[in-house]
Amino acid sequence: MSSIPSAGGIKEAPKVLVVGSGAREHAILHALARSPAAPELLCAPGNPGIAAVARLLPVAADDVAGLVGTAVSERVDLVVAGPEAPLVAGLADALAAAGIACFGPVAAGARLEGSKAFCKEVMEAAGVPTAAYRVVTTVGDGLAAIAAIQGGRYPAVIKADGLAAGKGVIIARSEEEASAALRELLVEHRFGTELVLVEEFLRGPEVSLLAICDGVRALPLASAQDYKRAYDGDEGPNTGGMGAYSPVPGISELEAQALCGVVHQPVLDELRRRGVAFHGVLYAGLMLTEGGPKVLEFNARFGDPETQAILPRLRTDLLALLHAAAPGGEGLAGVRLEWDARSAVTVVLASAGYPSGSSSGDVIEGLGAADAAGAADVADAADAAVAVTHAGTATDALGRVVTAGGRVLSVTALGASIGEARAAAYVAADAITFPGRQLRRDIALGVDGAA
Ligand code: AMP
Ligand code: GLY
Repeated sequence: MSSIPSAGGIKEAPKVLVVGSGAREHAILHALARSPAAPELLCAPGNPGIAAVARLLPVAADDVAGLVGTAVSERVDLVVAGPEAPLVAGLADALAAAGIACFGPVAAGARLEGSKAFCKEVMEAAGVPTAAYRVVTTVGDGLAAIAAIQGGRYPAVIKADGLAAGKGVIIARSEEEASAALRELLVEHRFGTELVLVEEFLRGPEVSLLAICDGVRALPLASAQDYKRAYDGDEGPNTGGMGAYSPVPGISELEAQALCGVVHQPVLDELRRRGVAFHGVLYAGLMLTEGGPKVLEFNARFGDPETQAILPRLRTDLLALLHAAAPGGEGLAGVRLEWDARSAVTVVLASAGYPSGSSSGDVIEGLGAADAAGAADVADAADAAVAVTHAGTATDALGRVVTAGGRVLSVTALGASIGEARAAAYVAADAITFPGRQLRRDIALGVDGAA
């Protein structure tokens, strides 16, 4: 890394604890493992794939007290939070009280993801472009808001206020659908919230832009796009994400910096005015509308599966970067990130029934073959290279790797073009089989002419 010396500010062989058990956390650990500071890597709770790169600790990712106790007893130098739930529940606050640096915001910052109403209020105060909205508490007010915001035209967007694992957004095509959704959220309390946002329906391509934040400055990562729907052609139910690619053609480093200046930085500044220093990833889900970019949502963490496509291209030492951005670190002033010129495409392999359910215990074949294509250190390979990261996997009594959840694996390939990365990702993905395996065939299809 040019601007942060490889082990600058951080001692040799620091102990780093990554919280979570998905392919995102596996990708973070792959990148940390490349650090010249030679960190000792821990993961709570992790999975069988992660066990190859980190020592697993049997603490659940949402057990804040357990995580803090473990970080203290293990004398961890840095905690890197994967999922949002522990951050919203105050993991970073509790670690700060215990004197341990955490990459991931305090609860008052994670609230950007935890409450869509709060997020909108901050965006408004910060002057960040976003869809027009109203916060409502009754079905009648909800329908009145749709009339006020877009003259009663449909589709209309209805969002539950709290964390809803990506399922709290409803695009209502008609007044009947809107009333049903409002009733579900406000009368039946499906997500346990009393608040609903009614939002202007926007059109345009979506892009995820993640920024590393040191409390003061926001430094954008390479742009990415994820695929949220279950089936090809963006059909079917919403999922946690079925694939991604990075960078997005047209969103170069320069554009990313410009977007960061009007999206992430004003939010950081506004939080700071309120006494909140945001250390962690500020993830903006953007829609590039005819009227300019608008924020659909903020998350307070790395995206999944975007991270699996972004981090293999990062040439900068991720450990030094996260250490610099965490409380007590030297900050990000003057830091420039370096990227592999190749593109990355990530394909998610899911189990039967996903996303309405999932299956478990099915034996996964072909992991060795995919690994042989270049596995753990994707960024070091010269041409096309592949990384397989685990999410819903387990080891059975015979020591075999089996499915254990909805999204099972992410397969990422680098290639000279999006098309080459896409081809390599599918060759590697097809080498891995298990009963009921499902995947989308159209990840990055048509992007920059990729066939
Ligand atoms: P969110 O969790 O807020 O990002 O919403 C999930 C998905 O719903 C987004 O990725 C969009 O595809 C869609 N969406 C959210 N808000 C809007 C909006 N205001 N207009 C159109 N689509 C939206
Ligand atoms: N890829 C969407 C998310 O991480 O929320």
